[in-house]
Amino acid sequence: MKKLYLLAGIVITALVLAACGAGTPAATPAPTEAMTPAPTEAMTQAMTEAMTPAATEAMTQAAGGQVEVFSWWVGPGEADGLAAMVKIFQAKYPNETFVNAAVAGGAGTNAKAVLATRLSANNPPDSWQAHAGQETIANYVAAKQVQPLDDFYKSTGFADVLPKTLIPLISQDGHPYSVPVNIHRSNVMWYNPNVLKAAGVTSADFKTWDDFFAACDKIKAAGKTCLSLGPEGFTAMHLWENVMIGTLGADKWSGLWTTPPTTDWAGADVKAGLANYQKALSYTNSNASTLSDWQPASKMVSDGDAAFNIMGDWAYGYFANPAPNGLALKPHTDFDWAPTPGTQGIFVFLSDSFVLPVGNKNQQGTLDWLTVAASKEGQEAFNPLKGSICARTDCDPSKFSEYSQNAMKDWTSDTVVGSLTHGVVAAPAWQTKIDTALKLFLTDPTKVDDFQTALAAACKSDGTCK
Ligand code: GAL
Repeated sequence: MKKLYLLAGIVITALVLAACGAGTPAATPAPTEAMTPAPTEAMTQAMTEAMTPAATEAMTQAAGGQVEVFSWWVGPGEADGLAAMVKIFQAKYPNETFVNAAVAGGAGTNAKAVLATRLSANNPPDSWQAHAGQETIANYVAAKQVQPLDDFYKSTGFADVLPKTLIPLISQDGHPYSVPVNIHRSNVMWYNPNVLKAAGVTSADFKTWDDFFAACDKIKAAGKTCLSLGPEGFTAMHLWENVMIGTLGADKWSGLWTTPPTTDWAGADVKAGLANYQKALSYTNSNASTLSDWQPASKMVSDGDAAFNIMGDWAYGYFANPAPNGLALKPHTDFDWAPTPGTQGIFVFLSDSFVLPVGNKNQQGTLDWLTVAASKEGQEAFNPLKGSICARTDCDPSKFSEYSQNAMKDWTSDTVVGSLTHGVVAAPAWQTKIDTALKLFLTDPTKVDDFQTALAAACKSDGTCK
């Protein structure tokens, strides 16, 4: 119940934000003259109904052409899952050519800017990676850059195998707009068991942030970095959301994103979270800003230079996948994991999905890509390598690691809240304002009060706070 309540809160916020903040999106997009006209919903439905499976297959085979798919799954631990899904796509649709338009940079740091430029030039890829939640609804749907997928959902029965709580996060006015391929967990703390042991720290020693800081003092005394951090691109915000959730708890975190917020951005709870964030930063590596992405920070843990790293469970793929993309490490021996301090029983989630753009160059090819992304086969190939679990509820757990099997259980039993860093809870414009405030704070982490003032102002300028 609690889980549903929290997600419902996010959904209502999402809908209100989309309606109030970014204009009311129409149910069907209006293609401009420069764009390839897409079949209307009615046309597609009539076509689907009139066709036998054999005819559909024949049409698919004949579709051909290039299908350009845009993501940020390039680097170690990121590329393997995509490659597995592409392999299935190419085997199923030999007449079509998958064009990998991925742009490197964790969490889409660079990719999103490149995509925005392409979209403003009316040159969309055939599909792109979009996070379920506000990133999709308040951005691409509101700007009418993506087509509704009612027919796709109807013909594939996809909605029947998705968690009921996920569908509203990719829907507007009852129309689904993207195809979720996974569920990732943001609140994982990866650690090196050997570094912990040498410093006299056990896994019982970091259940709360205060415990964690005490453990850090021991690790520091043993000559190691306690908490490895990557460059500012997204890793600082990723750490911030986890410290905030671990300090505030699930309800108060979700309360920051309702309209109006039920958690006061200028209040004592947020202040306590920021104080913990300030302290957590004091235990991080001084070279964080010089690292190329999240992977080198995670690797500091497996190399034994740092004890902990807080990162989403794509890090599992990086640690465990075979070379050359993965480090081929042994779970529990070379690396281990726990929920981030204060988040036991909470699952901070995000979901990667793919869209059908208005004005794409290969409508059928894109639908074929979405068919693979939605399929059991596609998701069972992609997710074990990606470190995520299927968005579908019917994947076979035995195809997954012990880590992911536990994540599957937690996903259904924990209190689920949305990630800010990865697009769930806030419109991208608001997230950018928070990011600006955060980056300013990183230049002088003594200025906690200024940071809090800037966060409260960001909520106001978003229009969510009065
Ligand atoms: C997230 C994305 C994940 C993973 C991560 C690191 O935003 O949802 O799939 O790619 O960034 O790049």
